[in-house]
Amino acid sequence: MIIILDLGSHENTVLARAIRALGVYSEIYPHDITAEEIKKLPNVKGIIINGGPNHIIDGVAIDVRPEIYTLGIPVMSAGHDKALCETKLPEFNNDMEAIQSAVKSFVFDVCHAEANWNMPNFINDQIELIRRQVGDRKVLLALSGGVDSSVVAALLLKAIGNNLVCVHVNHGLMRKGESEAVVEVFKHQMKANLIYVDATDRFLNKLAGVADPEQKRKIIGGEFIRVFEEEARKLDGIDFLGQGTIYPDIVESGTKTAKMVKSHHNVGGLPDDLKFELVEPLRQLFKDEVRACGLELGLPYEMVYRQPFPGPGLGVRCLGAITRDRLEAVREADAILREEFQLAGLDKKVWQYFTVVPDFKSVGVRDNARSFEWPVIIRAVNTVDAMTATIEPVDWPILMKITDRILKEVPHVNRVCYDMSPKPNATIEWE
Ligand code: XMP
Repeated sequence: MIIILDLGSHENTVLARAIRALGVYSEIYPHDITAEEIKKLPNVKGIIINGGPNHIIDGVAIDVRPEIYTLGIPVMSAGHDKALCETKLPEFNNDMEAIQSAVKSFVFDVCHAEANWNMPNFINDQIELIRRQVGDRKVLLALSGGVDSSVVAALLLKAIGNNLVCVHVNHGLMRKGESEAVVEVFKHQMKANLIYVDATDRFLNKLAGVADPEQKRKIIGGEFIRVFEEEARKLDGIDFLGQGTIYPDIVESGTKTAKMVKSHHNVGGLPDDLKFELVEPLRQLFKDEVRACGLELGLPYEMVYRQPFPGPGLGVRCLGAITRDRLEAVREADAILREEFQLAGLDKKVWQYFTVVPDFKSVGVRDNARSFEWPVIIRAVNTVDAMTATIEPVDWPILMKITDRILKEVPHVNRVCYDMSPKPNATIEWE
């Protein structure tokens, strides 16, 4: 592998992905990694020091340890002060091909790395590693139906078969057809050991009358853990918990300085007496590699290219205190939006798109009589990292067709609006 030492460049991850796309495995390490630590890593063929020209972090100039130059491993420097290396990387501007052509000769001609990193090899290696770690013991996995948990499930299933126990908790806030698809693909097609828990009533009862967004998020996240915990307690002899941790989660943890805007929900936070060892077979992969892995494992395209969906689900899109009829309106409107985006080819172009139903009504006319019904708000955004986002300028005729369908097909709705707000000042979700 080629390792990248992080001197604060935003392009580290693009660089690592570009090298992997050349067929050579690459990982990112902190700038102050020691020579001893590097020696312990498997098969390091080259080191790229990547950072801006001054590497000032919090007023302090940082640099790599000089000892790494004595390892006998080729070192390439990107905008690095010390003229220890002839090769300089150009300004990348996140252009994958430009990066690849800049590093290609270093990777192959200088480091003599072999191009043997590919998905089938990765999968075979992971299957071997999972079997070694787990043996004939059992792994429990919370299978939400999201990309990462679905790919982990498929990989674990291939490695350990029915020693994988998947639990799918339907909190009643899933999109139309989503829980059904999880059961169909995993239980019926892939023959996984899947426990399906319909906890709709339980969640909706807990959420009844709760209007505060953070309170709603906490209830959904907390209840999710409790339901999962109850299922875990019913099972015998489980030693491991499978998790869909991916590489960006690992690279970003520790360097994250971003303030918490909303409390995000993931499985974690299980009680102390439920002690599991973790199995995280995707921890080396970037998102696009996770998708490639899923396709290679035979998961359906729609599941692997599913747009991001928040843990609290439609619960944060049915604004204020959730009611069943308004939740149904969000779900039906969302299904129409997804169908029409797919027909127009926008599903492959737009990063995230969904509908929101606020908890107020407006006056309209229906069948020549006054109506007093909810509006549906359409949101469609593009982003790279979800920290900022711009809106998609959806063509007018498409919006008119969607509006027409929502007004005809979704009960209790008399208006459709389009959310024009970028992030910031808005966030992507409404709650
Ligand atoms: P915001 O609304 O903060 O959303 O701009 C950024 C991205 O995160 C998603 N999101 C979540 N994802 N658990 C998740 O896994 C959550 O609790 C959660 N809340 C928001 C949101 O859909 C968007 O893609």
